[in-house]
Amino acid sequence: MPGRIPQSFIDDLLNRTDIIDVIDAYVPLKKAGSNFKACCPFHNEKTPSFTVSQPKQFYHCFGCGAHGTAISFLMEYEHLEFVEAIEELARQAGIDVVREQGSVSTQPRQDNLYAVMSQAHAFYRQQLRSHPQADKAIAYLKNRGMSGEIAAEFGIGFAPPGWDNLINALGNDAHSLAQLNQVGLTIEQDNKKPYDRFRDRIMIPITDRRGRVIAFGGRVLSADDQGAKYLNSPETAIFHKSNELYGLYEARKALRNLDKLLIVEGYMDVLALAQFGIRYAVATLGTATTNEHLQTLFRVVPKLIFCFDGDRAGRDAAWRALTNALPVMQEGREAAFLFLPEGEDPDSLVHHEGKEAFEARLEQAMPLSRFLLEHLAEQVDLSSEDGRARLVALAKPHLNRVPDKVFRHLLFDHLAELVNIDTQQLKNLAEQAPKQPRTTFNTPIKKGQKKKSPVRQAINLILQHPAAAGSIDNFQFLTKLELPGAQLLFELLEILSVDPHLNTAALLERWRDRPEEVHLLKLAESHLPGDEQTLEMELKDTLAYLGSLINSQRWQFLQQKLVTNGLDEHELNEWNQLLKDNSTSKGN
Ligand code: CTP
Ligand code: MN
Repeated sequence: MPGRIPQSFIDDLLNRTDIIDVIDAYVPLKKAGSNFKACCPFHNEKTPSFTVSQPKQFYHCFGCGAHGTAISFLMEYEHLEFVEAIEELARQAGIDVVREQGSVSTQPRQDNLYAVMSQAHAFYRQQLRSHPQADKAIAYLKNRGMSGEIAAEFGIGFAPPGWDNLINALGNDAHSLAQLNQVGLTIEQDNKKPYDRFRDRIMIPITDRRGRVIAFGGRVLSADDQGAKYLNSPETAIFHKSNELYGLYEARKALRNLDKLLIVEGYMDVLALAQFGIRYAVATLGTATTNEHLQTLFRVVPKLIFCFDGDRAGRDAAWRALTNALPVMQEGREAAFLFLPEGEDPDSLVHHEGKEAFEARLEQAMPLSRFLLEHLAEQVDLSSEDGRARLVALAKPHLNRVPDKVFRHLLFDHLAELVNIDTQQLKNLAEQAPKQPRTTFNTPIKKGQKKKSPVRQAINLILQHPAAAGSIDNFQFLTKLELPGAQLLFELLEILSVDPHLNTAALLERWRDRPEEVHLLKLAESHLPGDEQTLEMELKDTLAYLGSLINSQRWQFLQQKLVTNGLDEHELNEWNQLLKDNSTSKGN
């Protein structure tokens, strides 16, 4: 195992790196005020909402919500793992990655794995052209209506019958065999001789967002074949089934201005639709649509149409997709559901009906809002008051998961219509869901600013201007403050007290993959007005205010005890003193 990369190295690397250079190499940036801007590389847009802040070393897209540090950018844009992104930044900065214990990576570099996949892909394609049995593979494809152009464009190949064609073609020395095994192209069991995983199958390459082959799906040529109809690559270092979508790279390549994507179930559906000129279909790889899929897809296009069988199983699968989609339904995003006639899949349907009729169906796809409410309404009796109340209760948790206000309100309007009551009345009913008791304060926040809890405000101030934390020395009390985020604020101040020169990105990196990360990223996006001195003063004030809360929490505790059990003399004195302090601090 390679040693861990020490935090100090990451801090240092982020200090030497300028996110502007890193991003500009991929997406040319333009200076706009104090920030840099571009059209967002993670979703489709015409006016730039992708913003990079040099002081924070942080990017943020107001359109799709993508955000992060230079490391995150490389991970997202180049599809690198965390360590790979660090290696890439180190390479750009001209320094070597330091690892704890100084051990050297024994894992082969992933570059090599991509190269093996690429060689295997070339081999399978070549076999489709020249193998003595290629005829039957070509006949199969032709029979399914696939043209040579589409086959070539999607890189379709043929794995000939036999146990070691690929092994012999790519090398059966120990090194090559190890690599073939790592990418899942061979099977090695109990020290027996390894053999080719894919035999006598049509080979469908699965590419990542950059077009690199990361896996294969292999289909048998005849229906009466013994083996599974499809055989897919196993999970490997470069292939994570639940993150990938078949056809996404090809769709982006075919259509410059992709504005919607159709999500289907099968490889052959994507290929058949492409054959008919419908170039915006992608398929999950034999799994349900995951959150990762939806995030990926909504970064590329604002509209998704899910395609499902019209039967019970299809409806259930659609409902699962819907519940997954609710939390990502941000502003401007749209989702719809197309239910296919019994016994059809997109492949068969487009062959029967042709492009226009199929696209007409897409136009008629059921909007998410309608599917959501109809599905729930099916479970109750709308003619009774009880049934309508039950519908509200059923819908409430779903509706409250929608982050976009406008869309959520629209859903409430629809629901109100269905149950025939006033929207406002309904909203009161549904939104009064007591999640967590929220404490509210009189906070030292300027007028006109969105109200944030003082803890969040303090975190926000630190993220915008980490050096401000240098002026804070008394923050131990935060560990005793019972407020959401107080612990996080304490940790930030503690880190900065040791290392006051860290920038925003370096701070954020310390929370990578921790549950609090999302909150920090959100706060890092928001920009507070004022120069550095103002921010520093505001941070001081906010912390002083939080300090006073410790007192009021203690007072409330004592007060409670006074009423229930009574206080001893010492406690009574404390209670008195706190009361006095409080009235003097309120008076000024
Ligand atoms: N699948 C799989 N393994 C199987 C069957 C299916 O991995 N044994 C996955 C494949 O990704 C396939 C998808 O599930 O593309 C849909 O399966 P199915 O509807 O059975 O296949 P079709 O795409 O309709 O394939 P075909 O038209 O070639 O029969
Ligand atoms: Mn099919």
